[in-house]
Amino acid sequence: MQQVNIGIIGGGTVGGGVYKGLQVNGALMASRLGVQLRVAKVAVRDLKKGRAVNIPPALLTTDWQSVIDDPSIHLIGEFIGGTTTARTVVLNAFKKGKSVITANKALLSAHGEELFAAAAKYGTNLYYEASVAGGIPIIKVLREGLIGNRITRIYGIVNGTCNYILSRMKLEGADFGEVLADAQRLGYAEAEPSLDIDGHDAAHKTGILASLAHGFWVKPKDIYVAGITAISKLDIQFAGQLGYTIKLLGIVKKFESGKGKSAKIQVSVYPALLPNSHVLASVNGVFNAILVRGDVVGDTLYYGRGAGQDATASAALSDFADAALDLKCGTKSRILPFTPHEQDGAVLPI
Ligand code: NAP
Ligand code: HSE
Repeated sequence: MQQVNIGIIGGGTVGGGVYKGLQVNGALMASRLGVQLRVAKVAVRDLKKGRAVNIPPALLTTDWQSVIDDPSIHLIGEFIGGTTTARTVVLNAFKKGKSVITANKALLSAHGEELFAAAAKYGTNLYYEASVAGGIPIIKVLREGLIGNRITRIYGIVNGTCNYILSRMKLEGADFGEVLADAQRLGYAEAEPSLDIDGHDAAHKTGILASLAHGFWVKPKDIYVAGITAISKLDIQFAGQLGYTIKLLGIVKKFESGKGKSAKIQVSVYPALLPNSHVLASVNGVFNAILVRGDVVGDTLYYGRGAGQDATASAALSDFADAALDLKCGTKSRILPFTPHEQDGAVLPI
């Protein structure tokens, strides 16, 4: 059976989860794909650090460039986070002709346009299912499942940490700071948790969904963002008494701008009051849910764990499977490129 060797750069929550996932279900994936995925190297910062996932010391290195340069390695997983070193990792991998799997929504938000152009230039690909909504395969939904639709609305709970905090504040009367500390301990929060609670992580994800759905790059500066730091237990209590639940939503709205003209959209992230009867109001804990409305299909709904090791690894594993099949078949035709199709689309201010 063909073997595809993987270099994982970043062996923390997500990278460790990918390693674990392949230990547990690698043989199953091989039987389904006809390709054996094998982890050849894992780059980390600190070789002495204790790890929840037991990665054999022989696989570990602190030299991520050597992983990219290793001619026996076919695919690179970028799971270090951030936008500086991660950008160099991805570009250097492309230059070596290696496709990259990433979970890094901050990177895509800041440099996506450049990275997808570089992938095309070097005949490689960038796979990013794990970048939005943890284990929910929402990228495949927009890219493939709903390709015959114009997307008119997206309403998403897309940040697991914020939903975990708001849910526990509502259901247990828990304290904001204590729940955030739990979210960090459980591996849900970003290394810099202000990205979660200030709404920027949700904005990165909502921007990716908006770009994918509408075919032009939505810039971070065009997204209205408000986080949850100003939400108190009292706000949640009062909302409850009035029959509402507070949820941090990522929202993409499409507006028709006139016959023959391309669509205009609005992209926003803010804590919204949802009637308790709304389907998104009962999504609790680290779970995410995304309601996508297409002009042909109508409303569709996707639900699952939005953060954490196993959920995110599940999404990344599907990308490794896609990438391995692309290598096996010698074609990237299965993956639609992230190319603009509505050049004159625009984001309207809120
Ligand atoms: P993490 O647990 O902090 O892991 C980061 C890993 O990168 C660590 O293993 C760290 O090494 C390694 N690293 C950092 N800088 C490095 C460098 N210069 N050279 C080599 N290794 C380096 O972070 P994470 O939660 O896995 O997140 C990784 C990415 O996935 C981020 O982009 C995040 O936004 C995204 N993501 C996370 C989740 C989640 O639920 N956690 C979900 C979806 C997407 P050490 O272990 O030695 O410190
Ligand atoms: N910090 C992110 C969240 C990780 O809580 O949703 C998943 O992208």
